Amino acid sequence: MKIIRAKDYKDMSRKAANIISAQVIMKPNCVLGLATGGTPVGTYAQLIDWYNKGDVDFSEVTTVNLDEYRGLPRDHEQSYWYFMQKNFFGSVNVQPDRIHVPDGSNPNAEEACREYDAIIRNVGGIDLQLLGIGVDGHIGFNEPGQAFELGTHCVDLTESTIDANQRFFNSRDEVPRQAYTMGIKTIMQARKVLMVANGANKAEIIKKAFFGPVTPEVPASILQMHPDFILVGDQDALALI
Ligand code: F6R
Repeated sequence: MKIIRAKDYKDMSRKAANIISAQVIMKPNCVLGLATGGTPVGTYAQLIDWYNKGDVDFSEVTTVNLDEYRGLPRDHEQSYWYFMQKNFFGSVNVQPDRIHVPDGSNPNAEEACREYDAIIRNVGGIDLQLLGIGVDGHIGFNEPGQAFELGTHCVDLTESTIDANQRFFNSRDEVPRQAYTMGIKTIMQARKVLMVANGANKAEIIKKAFFGPVTPEVPASILQMHPDFILVGDQDALALI
């Protein structure tokens, strides 16, 4: 495990974007696993900036996103597909047919998850997986207590995740109750894992996840066992370690 301390959110975003662009430069046809949420938005903005300056090229890159709400069509403003278009894909040259997000519009959970695992397998696995972390230690939608050995699967969102996500919807009732997510097994099989974390509300969980016991009660703690895991955090998120 490697920990990189950043001064602030902007610095964290820049350092994370640097690692991603290095990956793309070293292997132009790499597979990037991507995340949504507030934390990586600055990382995507930095990558877009470097793309516009001609410093990084995504034309051969394949992407697989971590997760998607079950029941939201792609064009729903709160779908993760939509988020990725708005915050990244719409502004860079990743080829549309190389963009993959679990199919939230497929009500058949088993089929949607099986197909997504097949996609990840067929593209040769993930070279670099970008992650955020939930305040309860979740990664993707792998909530506390989930088995470490799962591939893509359908999860019931916890009350705390529904609470955290309701700010993006008109009301709590509108927040989907289920999601399709890559499992911990899939994430652990990525050749490199890069986590971004910022803000004081992440400090406790960062300490627990990376300096406490490895346990399914803290899903991110398994990353202690990953051979190439990098955490880039700002001062507030790393304040307790
Ligand atoms: C996003 C995802 C989630 C977030 C986590 C942190 O695709 O899978 O695990 O990374 O909820 O979210 P933020 O960055 O909004 O604090």
